[in-house]
Amino acid sequence: MKLSKEIKLPRHVAIIMDGNGRWAKKRHKPRLFGHRQGALHARDFIEMFAQYKIPYLSLYAFSTENWNRPIAEVQGILKLLEDNLEETVKIANEKNIRINHLGNPDRLPRNIQLKAKEALEATRNNTALTVNIAFNYGGRSEIVAAARKIMDEHIPSDDVDENLFSRYLYTNGMPDPDLFIRTGDEMRLSNFLIWQAAYAELYFTPILWPDFGKHDFDKALKIYSKRQRRFGGLESL
Ligand code: IPE
Ligand code: IPE
Ligand code: MG
Repeated sequence: MKLSKEIKLPRHVAIIMDGNGRWAKKRHKPRLFGHRQGALHARDFIEMFAQYKIPYLSLYAFSTENWNRPIAEVQGILKLLEDNLEETVKIANEKNIRINHLGNPDRLPRNIQLKAKEALEATRNNTALTVNIAFNYGGRSEIVAAARKIMDEHIPSDDVDENLFSRYLYTNGMPDPDLFIRTGDEMRLSNFLIWQAAYAELYFTPILWPDFGKHDFDKALKIYSKRQRRFGGLESL
């Protein structure tokens, strides 16, 4: 699919990368085989995404609820994160991409915390676009953490409005997602960016994450560009 030059692009795309397990099952392979393919695909996707000149991409890699999975699967996913960080940083530096983390690092193993910190540091001055990796991320936990920080700082309740609150979220300073994609045939948000997605355009596809390629992304962008966003107002005449 070719995208015309005039297409209206989002400024921030958020993706729930779902369907790795089913992708593996279809091939009679263990779930971790799907996660490995999903992680490699995420790397390729980031590289491909850079050509669109869209300034923000947020990828949901591991939710606060995903700890409830069998320990072997959780450990396998953590290992994949660790193994992929270096190569992701390499791609990020080649493409002038800043890598950012959404989520609470505290529950992650110490070595991953350190490596993630290094990755953020190594790409800190890159300016073409920002890629947020949501790992141990939950929208509700993000909102509760923001409320706690506001209270800890003794901010008077009269000063707490939507703008101020947004500044205490992990996405501080970024535009809200305009286009919110979920692969893998489920139609729910699963606790991803629930504050920020208030007016996002939602796009659900049955395609499983490891199969979601450029052609499919172009299709999502094309559909997005035809949506009429009103934000509660009326369409302009
Ligand atoms: C998404 O794929 C990746 C994570 C949640 C870590 P799933 O593992 O949820 O894949 P399905 O939904 O079981 O196919
Ligand atoms: C959402 O997928 C989380 C990620 C893709 C990281 P899940 O597979 O965990 O979501 P549910 O359980 O189907 O809602
Ligand atoms: Mg899933």
